[in-house]
Amino acid sequence: MDDYRSIVVLTGAGISAESGIQTFRASDGLWENHRIEDVATPEAFARNPLQVHDFYNARRRSLQAPAIRPNPAHSALARLEYEWQQAGRSFLLVTQNIDNLHERAGSKSLIHMHGELLKARCAISELTYPWTQDLRIDDECRCCRQPGNLRPHVVWFGEIPLQMSQITRALEGCDLFIAIGTSGQVYPAAGFQQMASRYGAETMEINLQETGSNFDHHIYGPAGEAVPALVRDLIQKAQHT
Ligand code: NAD
Ligand code: APR
Repeated sequence: MDDYRSIVVLTGAGISAESGIQTFRASDGLWENHRIEDVATPEAFARNPLQVHDFYNARRRSLQAPAIRPNPAHSALARLEYEWQQAGRSFLLVTQNIDNLHERAGSKSLIHMHGELLKARCAISELTYPWTQDLRIDDECRCCRQPGNLRPHVVWFGEIPLQMSQITRALEGCDLFIAIGTSGQVYPAAGFQQMASRYGAETMEINLQETGSNFDHHIYGPAGEAVPALVRDLIQKAQHT
């Protein structure tokens, strides 16, 4: 079936790799040099907030380096969204990435299920603030006016990802689910393929390598080439239906 009325795309660190952002589980990935237990859990933040801030401050700084830009895969997804919505069809992009490359490429129907690096959140009021500089322990939020309440607006291990009910609804209603550049190691995102498939969607993955998941279709290759090619193909086929 090529006449897809509703597409959900899930992206992971692999889509931003060609933009110069490290993935997590490669041999030189982020989790090779940092212990999750030290930098990406609520317990770590309670125990040693400075260490957690250092980890995210470094990532926030490197994300804003001039060399870090969206690549053709990000741009192609923004085009797919535009074309699909123009044609009255449905499109949702769900990313596990906390970088801002999808929005910089023009994506609008976008959910950051693991949060956003360029935002800080008050742990008391849950309000979020745009945040481009280093986050420090004694920074004050505008809501409470007290130091110590701000944390990176990222979902840590053991916390619940954001906007899950919206994501679940979209997965239940889609007829094509595409996962790009994710190892499928972290739930609930790792279960999206199965959920979409159970509700009748075709499922497809784009990755450099086999991830061991049960997709109907696999495209092996760098996202920067494979995604624009797939998007061209989907748009062309949609124009003939
Ligand atoms: P888990 O079930 O505790 O966490 C998974 C949940 O956390 C999912 O809902 C996921 O979406 C979310 N999550 C939170 N922060 C995340 C982030 N930065 N990246 C991705 N997802 C995030 O964890 P799990 O699936 O049982 O384990 C995954 C890995 O994390 C394992 O290697 C485990 O050893 C490690 N882990 C360590 C600790 C700890 O030391 N406190 C806690 C949890 C997980
Ligand atoms: N093109 C396509 N795929 C790629 C590319 C590329 N250029 N480069 C790497 N990949 C693939 C890898 O083969 C791997 O399967 O991207 C995947 C990246 O996997 P992970 O590093 O595990 O990243 P991700 O799946 O996004 O991790 C999920 O884990 O710790 C958390 O918060 C973190 O949101 C992240 C979550």
